[in-house]
Amino acid sequence: MQLIPSRSAAPLSSLALFLLLCCHMTSTLSQKSDSALAVVENTEGEVEVMDEGDEGDFEVVQPTEEWQTLKPGQAVPAGSHVRLNLQTGQREVRLGEEQLKYLDQEHRETEETSISPEELKRVMKKIKEDMKPESAEHQDSVASRFRPMEELKREMAELDLLVQTDDQIMRRLLEQFNSSSSTTEQRLSILLELEYLVHQVDNAQNLCSMGGLQLVVETLNSSDFRLQESSAFVLGSAVSSNPEVQVKAMEGGALQTLLTMLATDQPLWVKKKVLFAVASLLRNFPFAQRHFLSRGGLQVLSELFRGDRGGVLRTRIVTMLYDMISEKELISQAGLDPGLHASHQELLRQYSLVSLREGLLEEGWCSLIPELLDSTEHDFREKALRAMLALAPVCVDQYRSHSSLKASLLLLREQYQDMIQSQMILGEENEYFEEMMDLINALHVKLR
Ligand SMILES: *[C@@H]1O[C@H](CO)[C@@H](O)[C@H](O)[C@H]1NC(C)=O
Ligand SMILES: *[C@@H]1O[C@H](CO)[C@@H](O)[C@H](O)[C@H]1NC(C)=O
Repeated sequence: MQLIPSRSAAPLSSLALFLLLCCHMTSTLSQKSDSALAVVENTEGEVEVMDEGDEGDFEVVQPTEEWQTLKPGQAVPAGSHVRLNLQTGQREVRLGEEQLKYLDQEHRETEETSISPEELKRVMKKIKEDMKPESAEHQDSVASRFRPMEELKREMAELDLLVQTDDQIMRRLLEQFNSSSSTTEQRLSILLELEYLVHQVDNAQNLCSMGGLQLVVETLNSSDFRLQESSAFVLGSAVSSNPEVQVKAMEGGALQTLLTMLATDQPLWVKKKVLFAVASLLRNFPFAQRHFLSRGGLQVLSELFRGDRGGVLRTRIVTMLYDMISEKELISQAGLDPGLHASHQELLRQYSLVSLREGLLEEGWCSLIPELLDSTEHDFREKALRAMLALAPVCVDQYRSHSSLKASLLLLREQYQDMIQSQMILGEENEYFEEMMDLINALHVKLR
C-alpha cells in the first residue's frame, strides 16, 4: 500500500492519486478483484488508496469551504485539506486549494459541479469497469483499454485538477484577492488559504516578493473586523520562525498598525489574533522588540490586561512577556561563553538595547501579573508564577509590599499539597502539580 501525504503535497495529491490508481488498476487486472477503490484517510493524516469489499462500508465526508471534524475511519476525497486542530485534538477537513480554486473560478454558485466523493467514486468505478479484461465491450481490443485513461485524463482536466505549484496558487489567490470584484467572503477564504500556505518558510518568503505581505498588512486597516482578524492571522503565521519575513513585516509598518489595533476599540476575537501576530513578530527579533518598547507597546498591553476581565487575553499577554524575558535571559547566559561567534556578540548587543524589565517595572507589571494568580485555571497560574519569578530581579520590593501576595501563595500551596496527596492515593501522575509546588516555593523564598 502506498501513501500520499495529504498536507505538504495537497495540490499534488490528485495527480498522485490518479497515478496510483493506474498502477493499482494494472496490478489487479489479472486478479479479477471485485472490490471497489476507496480513498481513505488513515490515522497518520495521510491519504491512502485502498481496497474495500463494498464501497458502502465506509463513509465519505464531503468537504466544504468550512472546517468539519472527521470521525475515525471516515474517508475524504483526494486533494482535501486535512489538519489537526491543536485545541480539540480532532482531525478536520475542508476543500483543498485545488478544489477551492476550482470552486472559485467558474462554479462557485453551482452546487452539482463541485467534486463530490460520489463523482470521484463514479470516475474510479468507471475506469475499473472499463479496464476489466473480461469486460465484453473491450476484451477484443488492447487499444480500448487505454481509452478509459484518456477519458479519465479528460475528466480530471475538466475538473481543473492539473498540478500547480504553491507559487502559482498564491499568485492566483493574490490576484483574486486584489481584484475589485472579489467579495468580502471570497477575500476571507483566500486569507485562510494563504494562512495555510505560509506555514512553509519558502511560501511565506515568496508571498513577500509577490507583494502579498504588503497586501495583507494593508488589510489590517480594513473596516471589516473579519478581514482584520484573518489578515492578522496570516501575518502572524507568515512571520512565525521566519526572520526574513519578520524583517519585511517591520519594513512594511506592520508593528505600528498592530499596536494601533490593540489600543483601539476592537472585538476581543480580533485582538486575540492581533496579539498572536505581535508575539510572532517580536519572537527572537530584538530589533522589533526595541521598537515595540519605544512605541509604548508595554503600555498598550497593560491597558489591554486591565480591561480584560474575562481573562481571555491576560494569559496570552503574560505568556508573551514571559517568553520575551526568558528569551533575552537565554541569549545573555550563552553570552558568558568566551569563545563566541561575532554574530552572537551582535545579537547580544541588540538584546542589551531591549530594556524589557525596566519597562515592565515602569508600566506597573509587578502588580499586574500577580492578579493572574487568582484565576481558577492551573495553566493561567503557572504562567503567572513563571513570569513573576522571571521578573523577581526588578519586582521583588513590590512583591514584598504587596498586600495579599503572601497569603495567596500560601493558599495555593495548600491547594496543590492537597491535590498531590489525593493524586497519590489514586496512584495517578502528579508531576504537574509538583512542578507548580516548586514554582510556588521558589517564589515564596524570594519574598522572605
Ligand atoms: C494590487 O492592485 C494594485 C492596483 O490595481 C497593484 O498596483 C498592485 O501591484 C496589486 N498587488 C498585487 C500583490 O497583486
Ligand atoms: C493604517 O492606517 C493608519 C491610519 O490611517 C496609517 O497610519 C497606517 O499607515 C496604515 N497602515 C497600513 C499598513 O496601511
